[in-house]
Amino acid sequence: MSDDHERHDSDHELRVSKIRDGTVIDHVRGGQALNVLAILGIDGSEGEEVSVGMNVPSDRLARKDIVKVEGRELSQDEVDVLSLIAPDATINIVRNYEVVEKHRVERPEEVTGVLSCPNPGCITTGDEPVSSRFEVLEDGVRCTYCETIVREEIASLIET
Ligand code: CTP
Ligand code: ZN
Repeated sequence: MSDDHERHDSDHELRVSKIRDGTVIDHVRGGQALNVLAILGIDGSEGEEVSVGMNVPSDRLARKDIVKVEGRELSQDEVDVLSLIAPDATINIVRNYEVVEKHRVERPEEVTGVLSCPNPGCITTGDEPVSSRFEVLEDGVRCTYCETIVREEIASLIET
């Protein structure tokens, strides 16, 4: 049984090749990889080399996504915002093919300019240039301005 599982895992390693230098965001919830890229503002338009594996078998999660960004070491602040959509993510910094740092995403107290408020009457969605700000709760986020709480589908609020 477990042999079978490992064989699946190594199959996947062949599908998403190792990177030389950069960041591997591993153990992302299945189906969230494109939201990870959106929240990080990575869309490939600047020539970034990015590999994505979606819904690959994993032993820690039933299915996981994995995102590999070549040539860029993401900072803790940059990745912490991922805790909103990928709370179990592992961040691996790779140099010369070796993982030199591995850490978890940490829940930030608030996020600014990342999510847009779903309340059309909110000051942040009007014509005035007020950037969005949400407090991060145990089970969701709360708009600092209008106090709207969002618990589900947080990814659909990601600003583009
Ligand atoms: N990785 C990569 N390129 C490298 C080195 C590692 O893409 N040059 C990827 C691996 O494929 C893996 C992740 O980075 O998905 C973490 O690598 P590693 O720490 O070697 O794997 P594990 O020990 O399995 O990690 P964990 O314990 O976090 O599951
Ligand atoms: Zn609001």
